[in-house]
Amino acid sequence: MTADSAISPRKILVTSALPYANGAIHLGHMVETIQTDIWVRFQKLRGNQCIYVCADDAHGTAIMLRAEQLGVTPEEQIAAVSADHQADFADFLIDFDNYHSTHSEENRELSSHIYTQLQNNGHIATRSVTQAYDPEKQLFLADRYVKGTCPKCKTPDQYGDNCENCSATYSPMELLNPVSVISGATPIAKDSDHYFFTLPEFSDFLKDWTRAGHLQDEVANKLAEWLDSGLQEWDISRDAPYFGFEIPGHPGKYFYVWLDAPIGYMASFKNLCDKTEGLEFDDYWKKDSDCELYHFIGKDIINFHALFWPAMLSDAGFRTPTKVCVHGFLTVDGTKMSKSRGTFINARTYLKHLDPEYLRYYYASKLTNSVDDLDLNLEDFISRVNSDLVGKVVNIASRTAKFVAKSGGTLSAVVAEPALWEKFTAAEQSIASHYENREYGKAMREIMALADAANEYIAEQAPWQLAKEAGKEQQVLEVCSMGVNCFAALMTFLKPVLPATALKAEEFLNTTLDWSDSLTFMSEHTIQTFKPLMTRVLAENVTAMIEASKEEAPHKPAEPEGWLAKEPIADEIEYADFAKVDLRVALIANAEHVEGADKLLRLTLDLGGETRNVFAGIKSAYDPAQLIGKRTVMVANLKPRKMKFGMSEGMVLAAGPGGKDIYVLTPDDGAESGMRVM
Ligand code: MSP
Ligand code: ZN
Repeated sequence: MTADSAISPRKILVTSALPYANGAIHLGHMVETIQTDIWVRFQKLRGNQCIYVCADDAHGTAIMLRAEQLGVTPEEQIAAVSADHQADFADFLIDFDNYHSTHSEENRELSSHIYTQLQNNGHIATRSVTQAYDPEKQLFLADRYVKGTCPKCKTPDQYGDNCENCSATYSPMELLNPVSVISGATPIAKDSDHYFFTLPEFSDFLKDWTRAGHLQDEVANKLAEWLDSGLQEWDISRDAPYFGFEIPGHPGKYFYVWLDAPIGYMASFKNLCDKTEGLEFDDYWKKDSDCELYHFIGKDIINFHALFWPAMLSDAGFRTPTKVCVHGFLTVDGTKMSKSRGTFINARTYLKHLDPEYLRYYYASKLTNSVDDLDLNLEDFISRVNSDLVGKVVNIASRTAKFVAKSGGTLSAVVAEPALWEKFTAAEQSIASHYENREYGKAMREIMALADAANEYIAEQAPWQLAKEAGKEQQVLEVCSMGVNCFAALMTFLKPVLPATALKAEEFLNTTLDWSDSLTFMSEHTIQTFKPLMTRVLAENVTAMIEASKEEAPHKPAEPEGWLAKEPIADEIEYADFAKVDLRVALIANAEHVEGADKLLRLTLDLGGETRNVFAGIKSAYDPAQLIGKRTVMVANLKPRKMKFGMSEGMVLAAGPGGKDIYVLTPDDGAESGMRVM
């Protein structure tokens, strides 16, 4: 025990965000659970009482619809997903003390209790809300379930809250030609009563709370922007049908999934308390609890955890989090995970090809306590794991263990190189504080620097040389005992990151790697035969994993065939670029052959006020007489061009490769000359 922890080991409750029960765990989720698990294992290793709970986030429309699609009940659906999630986490050596579900009795009771407290305190407001409603499915539609044409720039196929093209924001019913993504029906606007948590009343509380050391500075700064621009009341109810908990006293109204999701942390812990002698729910959750509460989350869900959640907890009479630790997002080879590139890698796919500890180490080596994104660079992954773990750490044991075995298997009583051992003990505090502060990258670098020092020492001493010389047996044993002790220290430092390798090392070292107190040098201690602890990452396994991920990707869009293959779609442009092109409906007032031109027709285009003379290369496909009186679309602001036969003042739109296959565009009936085409 260290001086501190001997007096009072810390009592810490830790959570990772609850993964949604409608999809598989992927390597993005693993950034979070690996980060959390390392922290928890570190705390346990230091002698603190640390409890790690999680659960599946099982409620919401998406899960309801997914179950319907699969033809099962939501309960069956979430049970199947939960089993998969737990198996994935277990195989990545994530050591939860409990894994529960938000669809549980504990959560129903706690959610009802908390809601009732908020209501009794006058912090629930009722307001009528007009929303898009699918008359076929009889379902209110969240913004992402409505698509239509942007009312501002007229781009089709936009979601109900904002336009990807012009960034306009609007409500779904403002879309032109809105459709329900679920049924294809045209949504109608419908009113219903909603319940709101009156968040603005917590503005002062939150301004203090977000600056009271619970958050990273960059997170607090981000929140200050929102707090300064004014908080909105938070809509916490949804209408039936909804998969969730009915709100007490309000039949047909359900808690919005994000109301009961964080309460799921409490519910999972409550479930654990009910199974564990001596573990008391109130010790951890009562208002003035001196236990610590740590939430690990991604940067996309900060407002739920650092605004709504502390406000709810404090209003309902509970403690608030000690720390909300926010991490960034995973990129693979520098870009967002992509299904078609095979870099959207599910946890299970990884596990079929690679050892979980490779990823645990790689993430650890790159994790900081900032919200910056973390890149899984596949080449770097291979070389770093191989050079650090196999080349540096394990190598120390494999180079020295056999000489200890030859001399009987018992370590020497002598610290052959005190200066080297001194380096190890001097680094303990700093490595520990890097872990504590979630600066795992810094911790790994310090650990690898120690491994380098140990390897240098062994290389200098070259016990394999000494062993050939007569009378050097004792020296060989001392050098190699030094090496084995360095290895034991390194594995102690790495135990939170590499629990499986640490276990194998413990068998070999015939001891438990303990770091609740300062390291001790093992002297006159008998060890076991060394067995290889870890194999190298093979590039071919990484390639196989990427290939397998590509195959799992939902059906790839068909390879471009026909016209797209002949002429691939041009580079993306900004809307502003497109808007420069002024397309107008025009009446073909006249069309005639041009003497001496074998491809061109001369068109007189009437824009409803002015006419334009345009030469069009469509002679091979059209008789002038066919064209006269037709409406078409022209580029009206194209710079006039002097041609052999006169000025061409614009361009007519047509499709096709040429020859007989040219098709002039025609607007639908009703379009008038001069109208702009967008
Ligand atoms: N169900 C909510 C959380 C409720 S907590 C009361 C949710 N689920 S999630 O499955 O979408 O994400 C779970 C966690 O994984 C979140 O913290 C999220 O930020 C994290 N990640 C999901 N994808 C990620 C990456 N690509 N990279 C890093 N973390 C990511 O949000
Ligand atoms: Zn738009």
